[in-house]
Amino acid sequence: MSPLHVTRTLPEDATDAALRADVLHGLTATPKWLPPKWFYDARGSELFEQITQLPEYYPTRAEREILADRSGEIAAASGACTLVELGSGSSEKTRYLIDALPLAAYVPVDVSESALTQAGQALVGERPDLHVHALIADFTAPLDLPATPGPRLVAFLGGTIGNLLPVERARFLASVRTLLAPGDGLLLGTDLVKDERVLVRAYDDAAGVTAAFNKNVLAVVDRELGADFDPDAFDHVALWDAEREWIEMRLRSRTAQTVKVPALDLAVDFAAGEELRTEVSAKFRKEGVTAELAAVGLELTHWWTDAQDRFALSLSVAR
Ligand code: AVJ
Repeated sequence: MSPLHVTRTLPEDATDAALRADVLHGLTATPKWLPPKWFYDARGSELFEQITQLPEYYPTRAEREILADRSGEIAAASGACTLVELGSGSSEKTRYLIDALPLAAYVPVDVSESALTQAGQALVGERPDLHVHALIADFTAPLDLPATPGPRLVAFLGGTIGNLLPVERARFLASVRTLLAPGDGLLLGTDLVKDERVLVRAYDDAAGVTAAFNKNVLAVVDRELGADFDPDAFDHVALWDAEREWIEMRLRSRTAQTVKVPALDLAVDFAAGEELRTEVSAKFRKEGVTAELAAVGLELTHWWTDAQDRFALSLSVAR
């Protein structure tokens, strides 16, 4: 059996330093904000897993449908021998690709060591022919990829690119492009613009799971930085910004209150009704995706959607 390689490029204390910096910047800004990456502690990852099973939250099912139906076409179009997956998590949906591609190597990249080793162990057990080289890394920072056979396909699934603001997106795509040689590909999952009610329901479900997920970021700041946020003192808000074509999640302070963050020696005042932005989830159109890819030297060659046109997987090729 081929061994599972795990490489850490993320220093053990990098997460703590980044959280402190983000909380300091975000909670002293006007309007206040926190980056969505801090949702995903063990509890938050569990809540996100529950979200993917909600009747209102269609993106995961729509993307899985595309992968299940089109992995043969994706494999034929890319012919990749190395699959690099950014934000691989449990690699659950990726199995369709791994099983269809003529792969010599799979390089899952994630900040969660437990997710990487769990998924990696399972995979090497079933596919002794496959070289699995897991990278514990923040995919928004420059990556040092192992030397594996080409062509290379970089996959970024789930619509997570929508969590980046337009400038961050351009920077991110440019850095992805540096991982690709001419002929290598990018497989990108993007949620699509659709009826506002469908979008808002997906981020404000009846069972309140997304509300709990949103408020979980406050529990993370409480635990990690000794803050005294009371999650019950905030309301979950999900709204559609029609101009920028993105969903925003916010936490609205029910009353005027002051929250202390001892690790930062900080006291944060909230007015009654004041909102803290916790996530942007951009929705896309084919023209926009094509243009953003072209801007970094990637040519969109394939566009696959689910039967209801809710979600798209695009394949683009480095020129
Ligand atoms: C994991 C970033 C794709 O934006 O839809 C789900 C996260 N936020 N419900 C998304 C999320 C609220 C999700 N992504």
